[in-house]
Amino acid sequence: MTKEEERALPIGVFDSGIGGLTVAREIMRQMPNEKIVYFGDTARVPYGSKSRDTVLKYSQQIVRFLLEQKVKAIAVACNTASAYALPVIEKDCPVPVIGVIRPGARTAVDATRNGRIGVIGTEATVESGTYPEFIHGIAPMAQVLSRACPLFVPLVEEGLWEDPVTDEIARRYLAELMDEEIDTLILGCTHYPLIRETIGRVVGDEVTLVNPAYETARTLQELLTERGLLADHHPALGEVTQYQFFVSDMAEKFRRFANSIIPYGILSAKVINIEKY
Ligand code: DGL
Repeated sequence: MTKEEERALPIGVFDSGIGGLTVAREIMRQMPNEKIVYFGDTARVPYGSKSRDTVLKYSQQIVRFLLEQKVKAIAVACNTASAYALPVIEKDCPVPVIGVIRPGARTAVDATRNGRIGVIGTEATVESGTYPEFIHGIAPMAQVLSRACPLFVPLVEEGLWEDPVTDEIARRYLAELMDEEIDTLILGCTHYPLIRETIGRVVGDEVTLVNPAYETARTLQELLTERGLLADHHPALGEVTQYQFFVSDMAEKFRRFANSIIPYGILSAKVINIEKY
C-alpha cells in the first residue's frame, strides 16, 4: 500500500456503547478530513461494572474487528477499556493505539493550580487507579481524589441531562471531592461531558472541568502527523462512507442517540456479531 493510500484509511474508534461518540465528535471537529469507523458495543454495555478480564476480552475482539476494516489507527474512546485493556492492546497492535486516560491526566496536571485533582468515572476506572498513576507519573506531588459515579451513565442514557434528579445525584457524588478542595475535575467517563453543565453548576466556576475527549483528539492528530498518516483529502460533502457506525445490538436506538450528539445526520448503524472475532 502506498503512503497516500494509507493516509486515506479510516480511524477506528470504539466504546462500550454510545458514550464514545463524544470522542468521535471531537475527532470530527478537529480533523474534518478524516474518515471514522466507530464501533459501539451496545449488546455488552456497561463495561464500568465488569472485571478486567472481561473488558480486555471484549476490547481485543473489537480491535480485531476494526483491523479487519483496515483502520490506520485506533482510539479507545472508553475510559474503562483504556484503563483495563490499553496496556495489553498496544503491545501487539500493528497500528498506533491511543486511549483517553493519558491525555486527560496531562491536561489536568496543566490545569491545576493547587495540585488537588478530582477524578470521576465508572467503578472499574476508579478501581484501576490508572488516572492517579498517570497523573503521578507527570506530577508526583499531586493529590488525586477519585470517586465512582455509577448513576451518571444511566441518567445520561435516559436523557436526563438537565434534570433536578441529576443535580441531586451530582451534589451527593461530588460533595466529598469539594470538601477536599480540588480545583480541577477530570470527567473520566465518556458520558460525563454530556452533563458538563450540571457538574459545572455543582462544583462552581473555580473548578476547571477536564474533558479527556478534546485532548485525545488533539493527541491523535499529533500522532498521525508525526507518522505521516494525517488524511489530506477532504471527503466530498455528504460522502456516505466518511463515517461508518457499527454496533453489537439496538442499531435504531443507537442511531437516534447518535443524532442528538453528532452534528451530522447518522445515516445508519449496522449490527455485527462481535462474538465471532
Ligand atoms: N464508556 C464507559 C467509560 O467511559 C462508560 C459506560 C460503561 O460503563 O460502559 O468508562
